[in-house]
Amino acid sequence: MKRVDDFRLHFGKQELVPIVVGGMGVDISTADLALEAARLGGIGHISDAMVQTVSDQRFDTKFVSQKLKQYKHNVASSDKSSVKFCLSTLAEATRNHVGRTMEAKRGDGMIFVNCMEKLTMNAPGDTLRVRLSAALDAGIDGITLSAGLHLGSFALMEDHPRFRDAKLGIIVSSPRALALFLRKNARLNRLPDFIVVEGPLAGGHLGFGLDWAKYDLHTIVDEVLAYLKAEQLDIPVIAAGGIFTGSDATAFLQQGAAAVQVATRFTVSHECGLPDKVKQEYFKASDDDIEVNLLSPTGYPMRMLKGSPGIGAGIRPNCEAYGYLLDAKGNCAYIDAYNREVALHPDAKKISVKDKTCLCTHMRNFDIWTCGQTTWRLKDTSHRLADGSYQMLSAEHIFHDYQFSTDQKIALPPSAAQVA
Ligand SMILES: Cc1cc2nc3c(=O)[nH]c(=O)nc-3n(C[C@H](O)[C@H](O)[C@H](O)COP(=O)(O)O)c2cc1C
Repeated sequence: MKRVDDFRLHFGKQELVPIVVGGMGVDISTADLALEAARLGGIGHISDAMVQTVSDQRFDTKFVSQKLKQYKHNVASSDKSSVKFCLSTLAEATRNHVGRTMEAKRGDGMIFVNCMEKLTMNAPGDTLRVRLSAALDAGIDGITLSAGLHLGSFALMEDHPRFRDAKLGIIVSSPRALALFLRKNARLNRLPDFIVVEGPLAGGHLGFGLDWAKYDLHTIVDEVLAYLKAEQLDIPVIAAGGIFTGSDATAFLQQGAAAVQVATRFTVSHECGLPDKVKQEYFKASDDDIEVNLLSPTGYPMRMLKGSPGIGAGIRPNCEAYGYLLDAKGNCAYIDAYNREVALHPDAKKISVKDKTCLCTHMRNFDIWTCGQTTWRLKDTSHRLADGSYQMLSAEHIFHDYQFSTDQKIALPPSAAQVA
């Protein structure tokens, strides 16, 4: 019986364990998590979402407070068009986060950065160009372009000396999106090095509508493989979304995928950036606790736990400190929803905004608990302890379980009692 370890992902001469730990912003897929995946011979992702905040937390820089100080005069205004990112600060924060991670890399695997293009940052083209080139400058092995895939983003890197040597890939949820991207980029004579095909069960933002449940990852992977074959293109396809066991992963590798991208199982690892209390919420969740909603100001559906504290919160938009979702004109759907509620309840001390959420603030504070559809199964991957909580896992344990398990089995860790 085959298992994941019988397969390898090939990038030219380089051979990797075909397990990719997906990017999880904001710093949920930490450098520590990505470094473990790389040490074990696979691919780990860090994320550049809200990278100035991440740099402050990791390296004690003061980028967020400096930005807030600069724009403090604007806090009470609903016009955020003047709130801009300083591009050199953005580059420095990216170089800190990426560069220090790459310096710490050990082993034969790779580290990629997940770059969510929907972070439009009040100047979409300029900020994206800076994020991409700073990551390349800092030695990242590869870049995965995600949510909001910008058809012109390869062109933003075309003059960078590493444009043809770094691994560049895209996330799509249909062969149509892939075809569009390839057509748009044909003149660059530079194909993606990998294509992540993300199905409807993934965490974070989805490339589907609220009718996500009628799609199936195996079918989409088949369609993408058939499209690539018809176009005579040999690009590794990485299947993502809802792959919970080694056997699930093996089925995709046997189908023709070159690797799998997984994330949800790692949300309860020591190395994951979620606070321990939140990890316990993921462990405890049942199927009924998970929903796909339209609360994200990006306009994309997002999956999360219904109990996320950020749902319904009516905090004042925090764009002077953050502002990652401001579009090219300085608008964000949360600002509109917030202003509407303030106008409706002028005397209220506290308001609630039910249809949108201030995603920057709540992701930064780990108050929107985005998760994959299989989160309710996490409790089956560990031991319940005497106090009712669940034993956290090491990333190595989870990685090896994907790599070596068969028969839909999930290896439990040595129990904490045994370890002690
Ligand atoms: C907590 C969490 C946060 C995520 N954040 C992002 C993100 O910032 N960008 C992105 O492209 N994908 C994000 N994802 C999607 C993962 O990278 C991955 O492709 C997907 O969740 C794999 O499916 P699985 O979680 O069922 O294993 C996130 C997933 C989770 C669980």
